[in-house]
Amino acid sequence: MPVESSHITGTSFPVCIAHRGASGEEPENTLRAFGRALDMGATWLELDVHLAHDRLLVIHDPTLDRTTSGQGPLAARPLAEIRALDAGRGEQIPFLEEVLALAAGRARLNIELKEYEALGPTLASLQRAVAAGKWSPDQLLLSAFDWDLLDRARQREPAFPVAPLVGKGAGAEVLEAGYRIGAEAVHISRWSARARFVDAAHARGLAVRVYPVNRRWEFELMVRLGIDGVFTDYPDRALAWGARAPAVGAGSA
Ligand code: G3P
Ligand code: MG
Repeated sequence: MPVESSHITGTSFPVCIAHRGASGEEPENTLRAFGRALDMGATWLELDVHLAHDRLLVIHDPTLDRTTSGQGPLAARPLAEIRALDAGRGEQIPFLEEVLALAAGRARLNIELKEYEALGPTLASLQRAVAAGKWSPDQLLLSAFDWDLLDRARQREPAFPVAPLVGKGAGAEVLEAGYRIGAEAVHISRWSARARFVDAAHARGLAVRVYPVNRRWEFELMVRLGIDGVFTDYPDRALAWGARAPAVGAGSA
C-alpha cells in the first residue's frame, strides 16, 4: 500500500482531510458541512456512520442529543422522526448515499464505521456506487477503532482500502494490525504522534494520519514529524498553512 508522496518525496506536507466536513464552521456530518469543505478546496472528507432502521446515517454519536434537536438512541426513534430533526442550521442527518452523491468525483471519502452492524450495508452501498461508475474503490476508505471489523471488511471486499484507528497510546499493536490486514494507513490521535511511531509506520508501508489538527502549531508539528494527513475541523486554515488537496479522478466510469 502506498504512503502518500509527501513523505516519500520529502515535500512533507500532509493531506487535508475535512473532519466531519468543515465542522468548525458548519454543523458536523451534514451535507452543508461537506459542501462547505469542498468549497474550501478540500479533496478528502471524513464522516461517521451508524446503522439504524436498515439505513446508514451519517452521525458521530449513537444518540441524538449532542448534535440534533432530538434525544435518545438513534434506534429508539422511527426513521421519519430522525430525518425530521434539526442537525444544525436546519440540516437533516444525511444518509451515506447522499454524501456519496454530493462528493462523487470531487473528493476522497473516509467512512468511519462506528459499529459492526454498519459494515455489511456500508460495503453494499459502496459497491453500488462503484458499480454505477460514480466512485472508484481507491477513492473510498474504511476506518474504525474496531480493527477486527476492518479485517472482515478486507476479507469481504479487498478492493476498498482500510485504516485502523487508535486514540492515545498508539504503538506496535496498531502497526501490526495495519500491516496484517493490508491497511494503507493508520489513523491516530494527535497525542500519539511521535517521530519513532511515524518512522516505524513508514517502514511498514503505512501512512500516518492524525486527528484532530486545528491549530497552527499542531499543524507545524505534524509537518516536522512527517505526518501524511491531518483531520481538521477547519480545512480552509489547514490548506492555507500548506496542507495538500490532491486532485480526485472522476470515478471508474
Ligand atoms: O477518523 C478520525 C476521527 O474522526 C476519529 O475520531 O471520534 O472524531 O470519530 P472521532
Ligand atoms: Mg470520525
